[in-house]
Amino acid sequence: MSVSKSLPHDAARLHVTGAARYVDDIPTPAGTLHLAFGTSNVARGTLTGLDLAAVRSAAGVVTVLTASDLPFENDVSPSNHDEPLLAEHTVHYVGQPLFVVVATSHNAARAAARLGHARIDAETPILTIDQALAANSRFEDGPRIYAKGNVQAALATGTNRLSGRFEVGGQEHFYLEGQTALALPGENGDMLIHSSTQHPTEIQHKVAEAIGLPMHAVRVETRRMGGGFGGKESQGNALAVACAVAARATGQPCKMRYDRDDDMIITGKRHDFRIEYDVAFEADGRLTAVDFTHYARCGWAMDLSLPVADRAMLHADNAYHLTDVRITSHRLKTNTQSATAFRGFGGPQGIVGIERVMDHIASHLGLDPLAVRRKNFYADSNAGIAQTTPYQQPVTDCIINALVERLGHSAAYETRRAAIAQWNAQSKVLKRGIALTPVKFGISFTLTHLNQAGALVHVYQDGSIHLNHGGTEMGQGLFQKIAQIAASEFGVPPGQIKITATDTAKVPNTSATAASSGTDLNGMAVVSACQTIRKRMATHLGEVYNCAACDVQFKDGQVQAGATQLSFAEAAQLTYQARISLSATGFYKTPDIKWNRIKGVGQPFFYFAYGAAVAEVVIDTLTGENRILRADILHDAGQSLNPALDIGQIEGGYVQGAGWLTTEELVWDDKGALRTHAPATYKIPACSDRPDVFNVALWDQPNPAQTVYRSKAVGEPPFMLGISAWSALADAVAACGPAYADLQTPATAEAVLTAIHHTQRGAPE
Ligand code: MTE
Ligand code: MOS
Repeated sequence: MSVSKSLPHDAARLHVTGAARYVDDIPTPAGTLHLAFGTSNVARGTLTGLDLAAVRSAAGVVTVLTASDLPFENDVSPSNHDEPLLAEHTVHYVGQPLFVVVATSHNAARAAARLGHARIDAETPILTIDQALAANSRFEDGPRIYAKGNVQAALATGTNRLSGRFEVGGQEHFYLEGQTALALPGENGDMLIHSSTQHPTEIQHKVAEAIGLPMHAVRVETRRMGGGFGGKESQGNALAVACAVAARATGQPCKMRYDRDDDMIITGKRHDFRIEYDVAFEADGRLTAVDFTHYARCGWAMDLSLPVADRAMLHADNAYHLTDVRITSHRLKTNTQSATAFRGFGGPQGIVGIERVMDHIASHLGLDPLAVRRKNFYADSNAGIAQTTPYQQPVTDCIINALVERLGHSAAYETRRAAIAQWNAQSKVLKRGIALTPVKFGISFTLTHLNQAGALVHVYQDGSIHLNHGGTEMGQGLFQKIAQIAASEFGVPPGQIKITATDTAKVPNTSATAASSGTDLNGMAVVSACQTIRKRMATHLGEVYNCAACDVQFKDGQVQAGATQLSFAEAAQLTYQARISLSATGFYKTPDIKWNRIKGVGQPFFYFAYGAAVAEVVIDTLTGENRILRADILHDAGQSLNPALDIGQIEGGYVQGAGWLTTEELVWDDKGALRTHAPATYKIPACSDRPDVFNVALWDQPNPAQTVYRSKAVGEPPFMLGISAWSALADAVAACGPAYADLQTPATAEAVLTAIHHTQRGAPE
């Protein structure tokens, strides 16, 4: 069987040779036009006029469109109809598209866009969490509250009490391929869109609305993205809609590609949060009451902010059993880019809150932070203890204790902690730190109806197989994993499977490839389609060779029917000649999930994925500079469909998570302009920032939930293991003085230095 094999990514060779085709590489027809947005340089105000004469007369410009030129809907929002493609009256952030230039080349369009002048009556923008709170500027009427037990009573009677507050930074996706779309007008108004999107169906939907046609008139194709990380769930709508509208207006193909600065200035990022906590605990570190307040900075439009903020609340417990708990979530509306999905979808912000609490309690009690964490873990499921999450979902698959136990040994946590303490005692300038942090991540879309998927599989008469499903490929290896599933179902080598581009005309009504559920959902739909075809083949071959259909075996590229062995190709040919269909659709919906997102009660998740990481870091106490020296990870991917790809996801997720909490800092000025809009000012981890020692292993148990080949989703959960790097930095800072290391995020060199000074000057806890 080809599942469980560490086969390379189907496009690995194409990626490294530069032959992989992204949207920008698709040869365009003669006469293709290129688009660029003219954007606002004011964060908030009323648009009173646009002076576009210079734009219109610039070299290469074919036409310029403003909001009033749009034929139908002027909306590119995924949810709330609050996101005009082009501003109409009100301007909401610096970078908001005001007009779109259609020109004969990419550079001509960009140069002309700069020549526009917008007349805007500027108002004082609402930029920060404090400003939004003061103005009561929010989505939803008031905060959302999820609670279990009686947190006030438990806080009041607690033995020990601590409270604190910290800022959690946002994050730029920094996918290597920028957002891109290409619209090819067909006959009778039909439109074919190539889009770098995680959500082709939504592109189809928004384009259809914008050009006033039913969804059947629009076809969207996505072969691959050069990274999405959540930033291409909704943020590609604007480019695709702009191209479609311009293609409709000019009758010519239209293409749009943001350059890096535009991409960073226009599109949404991870939500930054402020987190406040008030907790009570026993002398051994066991939590007895936890009260969290989340303030999420959502930006100007709703986008996916509500489910992101929900998921933050749903992960406020991480791997810890909390009896009396309350989470209050404020979703604040600000004059900044509309914050959007980013790997973990709010989960990381929720989890970093409780991990900070663990470290703070340990510091207060003078205990090893790992001891405090262990005291609070959910019981492993084999202990037979019934426990529920703060939203009252029973935790029936917990393995965190056993997993942390094993990782603690393999990473030699105890001995290294002792060695580091000794080393720190004799090292004046450099200090080391170590931390182990866990993750428990809920798998399923919290918007329950999204947990469905479709597939389309054809077997050709030569035995070759065409594979299609609703998921998109963004580098994570989804297509390869699913090809391995299809190959296993037919008992053929994976080379016999043709992986094809996601296409709304082949599989309709798809969900975004998101929530890490790409393989879980689409893999199961593909299994179902393959089984339909296999059963038809088996029934026919059973009749021909006089055996029961269930005795027809598909293995090693061969089909065994009774005493007769045929090649898979011969079996396909025979079935075809008998006029039996060799094409089938498949469908899957996740069972057993149901919950109430307003009350915050129920079973939002089909299962949980677990993992843990040990990070060791060193800091320079004179400059705050720091490095991750070593990381050890043990992660649960269930029965892995492809260990090489899963380990790749874990390594990448860890590094991206560590980047979020260390070097990646977004800075807006007091006018609301993003000052960090290029790699010169925004620092993502480089290859050299990868820990020198990086040991990643997979937990070896199958998923107890009935997932495809008992695998587990792996796209997002490892991201949160990057928290171990931040926690280890706080541990190193703590070695500098008596007080608690009040380390903020991102822990840039400056933030580390500030925390060192705080630790040195402050009183011991
Ligand atoms: N890995 C790569 N290489 N590139 C990406 O864009 N996106 C992540 C994760 N891993 C991403 C990635 C995010 S945000 C999600 S939700 C999942 O992949 C989506 O894919 P899956 O559901 O197939 O895991
Ligand atoms: Mo991932 S943030 O769910 O696209």
